[in-house]
Amino acid sequence: MSSPKTVVVLPGDGLGPEVMAEALKVISWFNQNFAANIQTVEGDIGGCSIDKHGVPLSDTTLDKCRAADAVLLAAVGGPKWDKVDYNIRPEAGLLKLRKSLELFANLRPAKVFDALVDASTLKREVVQGLDILIVRELTGGVYFGEPRGIETLPNGERRGINTQVYTTSEIHRVTRVAFDMARKRQNRVCSAEKANVMESGKLWREEVTALHAAEYKDVELSHMYADNCAMQLCRRPSQFDVIVTDNLFGDILSDEAAMLTGSLGMLPSASLGAVKPNGKRAALYEPIHGSAPDIAGKGIANPLATILSVAMMFRYSFDMKNEADILEQAIEAVLNKGLRTADIMSEGGTKLSTAEMGNAVIETLSAARKQSAA
Ligand code: IPM
Ligand code: MG
Repeated sequence: MSSPKTVVVLPGDGLGPEVMAEALKVISWFNQNFAANIQTVEGDIGGCSIDKHGVPLSDTTLDKCRAADAVLLAAVGGPKWDKVDYNIRPEAGLLKLRKSLELFANLRPAKVFDALVDASTLKREVVQGLDILIVRELTGGVYFGEPRGIETLPNGERRGINTQVYTTSEIHRVTRVAFDMARKRQNRVCSAEKANVMESGKLWREEVTALHAAEYKDVELSHMYADNCAMQLCRRPSQFDVIVTDNLFGDILSDEAAMLTGSLGMLPSASLGAVKPNGKRAALYEPIHGSAPDIAGKGIANPLATILSVAMMFRYSFDMKNEADILEQAIEAVLNKGLRTADIMSEGGTKLSTAEMGNAVIETLSAARKQSAA
């Protein structure tokens, strides 16, 4: 049996609990069949935490996350908490978690499964075979910069302020992750900023260039203004391998990249901290889709992004590469059979509920296991 691992499970709001239930089935399947030895403990985050504890992320939950080997989160937020004060909104809980665990590197892979090529709103020839990795800086920039706030000026006008700010070390550590990832892929990194109008962007470009020259000359590096990058992503996405960018541009570009794949419901993510002396690193895994209040509670949400996040957890936190491959292959096989949740439904497909999709993944895993044992 492999070493014991603890995962804090945060189902959150909206469709969160529904998709998380399917991810938990998958984890217990790997416990039973691969002696994965993963123990899960549940916690509250987001709106449900506001309702129960008055804050979107309690110290108790945060401490549990700090002590765990990894955190698996589904989604936070919803209209019920729209009027809540800014710093205790559901989203603030997620931002606090990212910041407290110093999860500075957010990996958002956008991969087009062959079976889903036609689910994209873009032409088949544009998206077929697409495999991009966005590395988004996650604990700096305008999301956290000071000063921030809304103030009233002497003339009665109101003014909203946020600050975009980056330091050399913040740029270097996330860029290192991007270069390291690129070396295991097609060895190409495109860095996106707005060096033409922002000092922070100029610094970003200079520091990425300097780090490249000092340590990563073997990786092909290009630079792009973020607006051009957004345009190129839908014009010819296959030109990209790894994109490294700041917190805000990364938020926007990753939603755009997700849609190339046909559905937000398919995209997982990993947020990683620095590797500690003991070889471990803080890590949070979550689907990039939100809480989707409009479809929550209907049992129709796509659980695959959360299940794919489990695969990323296997790969990056638990060194379970084989299990990650097996899980990803099972998902691909499910899609190849034409099994679909509503968001990726196409002609000739079989429409499944959230739970049926989770079960289909489990059945496919079991069938593959039987076959390999035979
Ligand atoms: C994301 C989300 C979050 C963000 C929200 C929910 C705070 O959009 O993870 O992309 O803006 O980072
Ligand atoms: Mg976003």
